Amino acid sequence: MSGRVALTNCGEVLTNAGDVLHGGTVLFSSGRVVDVIVGPSPSGFESVDVGGRVVTPGLIDAHTHAVYAGSRANEYEMRAKGATYQEIAAGGGGILSTVRAVRELDGEQLFAESRKHAEWMLKCGTTTAEIKSGYGLATLHELKMLDVVRRIGEETALDTVGTFLGAHAVPPEFAGDRKGYMDLVVDEMVPLVVSTGVASAFDIFVEEGYFDADDARRLAETLALPLRMHVDQFSSGGAQLASELGAATADHLEQTGPEGIEALADARVVPVLLPASVFCLGQKKYPDARRMLDFGMPVVLATDFNPGSSPTPSLPLVMSLACTQMGMTPMEALCGCTVNAAKALGRGDIGVLAPGAKADAVVWDTDDLSEVSYYVSAPLVWAVFKDGERAV
Ligand code: NIG
Ligand code: FE
Repeated sequence: MSGRVALTNCGEVLTNAGDVLHGGTVLFSSGRVVDVIVGPSPSGFESVDVGGRVVTPGLIDAHTHAVYAGSRANEYEMRAKGATYQEIAAGGGGILSTVRAVRELDGEQLFAESRKHAEWMLKCGTTTAEIKSGYGLATLHELKMLDVVRRIGEETALDTVGTFLGAHAVPPEFAGDRKGYMDLVVDEMVPLVVSTGVASAFDIFVEEGYFDADDARRLAETLALPLRMHVDQFSSGGAQLASELGAATADHLEQTGPEGIEALADARVVPVLLPASVFCLGQKKYPDARRMLDFGMPVVLATDFNPGSSPTPSLPLVMSLACTQMGMTPMEALCGCTVNAAKALGRGDIGVLAPGAKADAVVWDTDDLSEVSYYVSAPLVWAVFKDGERAV
């Protein structure tokens, strides 16, 4: 952490939102960015010649469900044969099958499984990941998940931010009694999550068969932590609700139309788009990123990494999808996984390479920033620096 490291001979450095420096040197000291300068390194720094490659801030994945157990490859096969995500869920699969798998493991076992996912994310260039609970759906299992999120942050090179998603699905013990489950979430889980400090935000899955506007309102009324919401994935109207409740972010937004986007823009709700979930579910309708960008909204891109709708840890893949399926430019895509993602998490110390920011950076095996999105699923990550030290 105390090392003074200089990344020299950088082809292009993305310093801030859209600002690119050519032929720069990035200086790290004590885990922070000291400066980004033009020309060679001053003395006193250990120099790493990056050979004209591109350097960006470490990527930030602002929406994941990366703590989970088991896989849902069986459902993937069922979907390949024509079953839909909703049909599989209605048959007891989907989120609830991962809930069963997570409940079977103790914290240590769940950590071992999830650490693997954290390593995958790091290898894809992610240095900070938001990770949600939501596969426990009982007080102790939700807290177990959030403790694993905390441990990943402490015991791997990946930094983590926990989000409490107790309202992800109604667990089997409360089948037919959603309100009873929400009582448990609001009266028992929320106070524990807040007092233990294991989460920075709340989240809720607003969708037919899951949770509704009243449930979201109850969570918002606790005023305990910023509210994030899964909305408009399969049905619409959620963007207006997120705006009305003053949510920090509205995530998914595949079905959001012009009025919903305008409502989000007016209420300054940050849109978090998850195109890999559309892709992995084999659907066709991507969120209307272009309209959001034209409204000046800070569009965020995230993986939604989870075993059901989005089994990918790769933000570079998400950036490629953003460009080919949503008409975003490579620079807009990069900003979606760096500076805007930091905004979604309420963080000013990551997502930029500027004095004082965390020394988290990715060196890409290309001399052209656009190629980070242009190449699809190519292993372009050449090195990852975390807190000023080489992590990959
Ligand atoms: O964001 N939409 C709800 N939750 C996740 C999927 C979780 C799962 O299928 O396990 C999502 O897509
Ligand atoms: Fe999600």
